[in-house]
Amino acid sequence: MRLTNTQIARFRDDGFLILPSLFSLGEVALLKAELPRLFAERRPENFREKGSDAVRTAMALHLRSEVYARLVRHPRLVEPARQLLGDDLYIQQVKVNAKAAFSGDVWQWHYDFATHHGEDGVPEPLALNLHVLLDEVNEFNGPIVFIRGSHRRGVAPATLDTETTSYPLWVVDDETVACLVAEGGLVAAKGPPGTVLIFGDTLVHGSSINMTPWPRTIFSLILNPVANALTRHKRPEHQHHRDLSPVAPLGDGCLLVPATG
Ligand code: SIN
Ligand code: MN
Repeated sequence: MRLTNTQIARFRDDGFLILPSLFSLGEVALLKAELPRLFAERRPENFREKGSDAVRTAMALHLRSEVYARLVRHPRLVEPARQLLGDDLYIQQVKVNAKAAFSGDVWQWHYDFATHHGEDGVPEPLALNLHVLLDEVNEFNGPIVFIRGSHRRGVAPATLDTETTSYPLWVVDDETVACLVAEGGLVAAKGPPGTVLIFGDTLVHGSSINMTPWPRTIFSLILNPVANALTRHKRPEHQHHRDLSPVAPLGDGCLLVPATG
């Protein structure tokens, strides 16, 4: 799948794209069917919410599930990323952020490069975050909110927050957020299951708690150019993979192939 010139221009201007229903409900059902088994596992790749047993984020899923191993090579994710960044991209991080019904916690205002640079020594803010909504995401269940155009500010001041949630994150201060919102405004990334979001490493985003009875489960793949790889191995491998092999896209029907073994 290729992005149109209009979509590429919008990505450059706004810092993100929202592509409704790129994956079918059948494909999403296959992805969701893996999650109860993966979330039940007690292992460091599964971060649980502060003060509850609900999974906040489950990482390295392509090494834990054959279905996710195919999703990270899916042409509807990999080809747009290659169009924007060039062909030699490695799989930096793979996760599902599960903002559970009634208990999913906030993701503070941040941009991903602050963590990629601050923790892993990634030189340039080139990585792309490719998301697939696995539930309907609406205005109530904690959509990711983008500050439109905030990527153009580049590297904003950021500090490491280890207190607010169970997941340490480099966050942006309120004053900077207020300026960026005044300039660009906010967009909630809503859509039916199967919708794809693409955004860059300096786009400021966050999401509020999920106080609804509706789960808000989102898959996330981060791809980074091999030439821009991490320079520090401070965080565990599941937070930034060390295998720099360029990812090669599979066929468009790859998720629908029956599992082997
Ligand atoms: C979220 O799941 O709401 C935040 C995701 C992200 O920071 O990419
Ligand atoms: Mn993020």
